Amino acid sequence: MKYQNNMEITINNLESIGLAARRFVDNMGRGRVFAFYGKMGAGKTTFIKSVCECLGVADVITSPTFAIVNEYTSETSGDTVYHFDFYRIKKIEEVYDMGYEEYFYSGSLCFIEWPELIESLLPDDAVKVTIEENGDGSRTVSF
Ligand SMILES: Nc1ncnc2c1ncn2[C@@H]1O[C@H](COP(=O)(O)OP(=O)(O)O)[C@@H](O)[C@H]1O
Ligand SMILES: [Mg+2]
Repeated sequence: MKYQNNMEITINNLESIGLAARRFVDNMGRGRVFAFYGKMGAGKTTFIKSVCECLGVADVITSPTFAIVNEYTSETSGDTVYHFDFYRIKKIEEVYDMGYEEYFYSGSLCFIEWPELIESLLPDDAVKVTIEENGDGSRTVSF
C-alpha cells in the first residue's frame, strides 16, 4: 500500500515539541515502520525522542552511544519500540547481519533515521515521514 503525504505538523520550537509529538502519535494509525527523511540537523533524532517519550519510553538514547538500533520499552504499555540510525552503515551487508527483518516485520514500532541508505529493504507499507527546517527555525513534519 502506498502512502501519500496528507498530514502536516509544525513544530514551532523545542518547548512545544511534545504537542507536535502527541499529534504525530495520534495520527500514526496502523503504521508500524516510520522512515524519517530529512537533512542532517533537520531534527529527526529530536522528534523521534519526543515521540518515544510520548509513547511512554523513559530512557531514549540519542548519541554518542547510539548503535544502529536501540531498543526501548514503553513504561505505560510495555510495548517495544525500535529506533534505527543507518547514517554510519558502509555496506548493506551490515544491515543484513544485524537481522533487520526481525525488527521491521516484528509488528513493533520502528522509527528509522537515514532510510535512504537502506531504501530497498524498507517494507512496502513503511510510512514515509519528512522533516524540514523552515527559515524561522520551526520544523514541518509531513507524512
Ligand atoms: N523542532 C526543533 N526546534 C528547534 N531546534 C531543534 C528542533 N529539532 C531539533 N533541533 C535542534 O537541531 C539540532 C539537530 O537536531 P537533531 O535531532 O540531532 O537532527 P537530525 O537527527 O535530523 O540530524 C539539535 O541541536 C537540536 O536541538
Ligand atoms: Mg539524527
